[in-house]
Amino acid sequence: MLSRPEILLQIAEIEVLTPRVSAYRLVSPHGERLPAWSAGAHLNFRLPSGRARCYSLCCDPANKAEYWVAVQREENGEGGSLEVAETFSRSVVVRADPPRNGFPLAENGQHHVLMSGGIGITPVIAMIHHLKRSKASYFVHVCARSLKEVAFRDIIQAEVAAGRAALHLDGNDPARRPDMAALVGTAAAGVHAYACGPAGFLKAFNRATESWPREQVHVESFTPEARQAEGDKPFSVTIASTGKTIQVSVGTTLLAALKADGHDIATSCRQGICGSCMVPYLDGEPDHRDQALTDDERRDFLTVCCSRARSASLTLDL
Ligand code: FES
Repeated sequence: MLSRPEILLQIAEIEVLTPRVSAYRLVSPHGERLPAWSAGAHLNFRLPSGRARCYSLCCDPANKAEYWVAVQREENGEGGSLEVAETFSRSVVVRADPPRNGFPLAENGQHHVLMSGGIGITPVIAMIHHLKRSKASYFVHVCARSLKEVAFRDIIQAEVAAGRAALHLDGNDPARRPDMAALVGTAAAGVHAYACGPAGFLKAFNRATESWPREQVHVESFTPEARQAEGDKPFSVTIASTGKTIQVSVGTTLLAALKADGHDIATSCRQGICGSCMVPYLDGEPDHRDQALTDDERRDFLTVCCSRARSASLTLDL
């Protein structure tokens, strides 16, 4: 398995954006330039407890001296955001993987429609910086419960004033949720639609873009539900070193099947984000569902926490 380089980042500033969202400015502890990244990229933090948590970079990709991430406190979450709130203090040095981008802008896009729900605004902020500088054509739809819960309000309100964004505030009333299909519009040639937000928001977006060519639709999700798909099929996995074959049924992950068979697989996020669980394969066609691997890596590896097989069987180099 590959070991990935880590970077050290020092918390230089903390800014409270909304009652639940704080933004963190991160710099090199030694004053060095930070690894380059592109709009849509995220950082995978290795938290002191051993958890891994991914947060989108939400600043200008052209600024090589600092990163910003914004984290929403989830009182009923799995504890990652609360750990960030407790441990990310000024001057503290934290560990992360270098930025990775599973949600890039389409380079050849002629018009970009960006949909954000709640804290899903974070990668969209980086995209706005990039698209504005590139003088590209774009429009942003920001969906939230109320104005006070909109992070990066100044940027969004400036975009609204410039005619490049609209705010949709529903007061947490499902009846007032905007018509996603109407917002996204039609899949004209060169138009690309992007969405980042909670699971229900992404579900509505996926329904609204069902008829779009897949290459014009881009979704960012940090929730495991989004990795499951209707129509999942069972498949078998052969372990190259022993020749043993194990079955992966619908509703079971490849990771769980391997663990049940006694394989010790390193994991961290279990959401297809960090790449910790990447395993080499020798035969078969994986159904890659991660946001961690590059196209090059996907030729030889798959992430077993979330990916499955398109073929009836896979052979893993274990
Ligand atoms: S454990 Fe993070 S990608 Fe599988």
